[in-house]
Amino acid sequence: MEHLTEEEKQGVYKAIFKRRDIRSFLPDPLPSAALERILESAHHAPSVGFMQPWNFIMIEQQKTKDDLAYIVDKERRALAIHYEDTDRDLKFLALKIAGIQEAPLTICVTCDPSRAGDHVLGRNSIPETDMMSVSCAIQNMWLAAYAEGIAMGWVSFYKKPDVRRILGIPPHIDPVALLSLGYTDSYPDRPLLEIHDWERRRAMDELIYQDQWGTPRTTQS
Ligand SMILES: Cc1cc2nc3c(=O)[nH]c(=O)nc-3n(C[C@H](O)[C@H](O)[C@H](O)COP(=O)(O)O)c2cc1C
Repeated sequence: MEHLTEEEKQGVYKAIFKRRDIRSFLPDPLPSAALERILESAHHAPSVGFMQPWNFIMIEQQKTKDDLAYIVDKERRALAIHYEDTDRDLKFLALKIAGIQEAPLTICVTCDPSRAGDHVLGRNSIPETDMMSVSCAIQNMWLAAYAEGIAMGWVSFYKKPDVRRILGIPPHIDPVALLSLGYTDSYPDRPLLEIHDWERRRAMDELIYQDQWGTPRTTQS
């Protein structure tokens, strides 16, 4: 295995720790060479049985972005009902919808469960591994975008049939994510949900067990 230089290693960790989910974007266009590298990074993700179940729909037309923003907002409004009697501040969720309209590019990442035929190595046991593979591709895109100085936001507030209708996606294809990409002048150093007191990062010690579920780890390596 090839070893990274100390500087390269720090670069990888910097991308992992500093990458953020972003909701506000500048209208500036994105360089096509950087976009190609981001897509190539997705395409080099691991996938179950090497099935590569992904496709990427590059959405630049304003009308399509507006249509997507509408169905995402519909879902946000439906979600808001569940928080009516709490003190949760849902206003910031609306920002994400504006993000879809603002960002110069939205990418719909899809999963094709039929990509490699009936018997994909490894997927026979856990069918969701196709979707897990697409998630790996999306995380690669997120890190590559960070390396390119491009912000990315993952939107999953939608009903899949709505997205299929707007983008002409066949019924057996899963629209896994809508990703907004663009430059931004607002890149927080912590998750927005933490900044808005919605969630906090859990203590790692509570999450790591030793040998058996629930047994706290005794030593730290
Ligand atoms: C599978 C998945 C779905 C997500 N869907 C949404 C979404 O619909 N709307 C949203 O505002 N953020 C969404 N996010 C972003 C998360 O809220 C965000 O990753 C989390 O708050 C941690 O913040 P960070 O990514 O900046 O570390 C999603 C993230 C993942 C991994």
